[in-house]
Amino acid sequence: MSSQTTLFAHRLTLIPLESEHAADAARLHMIGQPGSFLTGLGADVLKVVYQQLPRSPVGFGFAAVDPAQPHELLGFVSATTSVGALFFEMGTRRLPAFAPPLLRRFCQSPSLALRAVQTVAYPLLHPTTSDGVTPAELLSIMVRPEVRGGGLGALLVRALEAECQRRYITAIDVTVAAANDGAQRFYVRHGFAYKQSFTLYGQPMHLYRADIAAR
Ligand SMILES: CC(C)(COP(=O)(O)OP(=O)(O)OC[C@H]1O[C@@H](n2cnc3c(N)ncnc32)[C@H](O)[C@@H]1OP(=O)(O)O)[C@@H](O)C(=O)NCCC(=O)NCCS
Repeated sequence: MSSQTTLFAHRLTLIPLESEHAADAARLHMIGQPGSFLTGLGADVLKVVYQQLPRSPVGFGFAAVDPAQPHELLGFVSATTSVGALFFEMGTRRLPAFAPPLLRRFCQSPSLALRAVQTVAYPLLHPTTSDGVTPAELLSIMVRPEVRGGGLGALLVRALEAECQRRYITAIDVTVAAANDGAQRFYVRHGFAYKQSFTLYGQPMHLYRADIAAR
């Protein structure tokens, strides 16, 4: 058994994702998704994303920490019960929090502004299914590189599923870059099935869904 497993068995705790985790979550996001649009927006913008998400009534998640160092994230998962409501909230009453770091970033790189419009339109671009299911959306899952492969990602997904079941949500969607083979293997192992493909930021994306009603 690896020392990582021992670490998880004895010293790991999962707690709700809070605004105070934002700086670390932003850092893990930058490391975990190099080259993605959100990472391109920079740590300051991502920090606001992770500050605001837990404050939203439709945002939630879990942080994995060593209880001895509760402010240092080993990993986290973030989710929303409604992508549309979340993006609307972020683009309206929470916009003042985003405006300063976003404007600074757009001045440095104006092309990012156009892609930001796509992000706001994401709920419209996102394929919808007409099967009557209202899924939660897994927005991001990130584990510190040095502890990947030790089962932490699995724990985070299970915690998310349990929380969704507690909220009577029957499915979880996740959008993943088509090029991210490792993440797709990970999702399939956890019961996610490929649904469809679409394009976001000019990149092919795959939508996966886990049916959690029957588990
Ligand atoms: C995907 C991720 C959260 C999984 O966390 P984890 O703690 O390593 O997950 P587990 O230990 O429970 O499971 C390991 C499995 O994750 C997958 N995986 C994906 N990327 C991996 C990586 N860099 N290292 C190890 N496993 C990875 C593999 O399927 C692996 O199983 P395998 O080695 O048998 O193929 C983690 O690898 C990560 O943070 N990746 C970067 C961010 C990312 O791509 N997130 C998903 C898109 S939002």
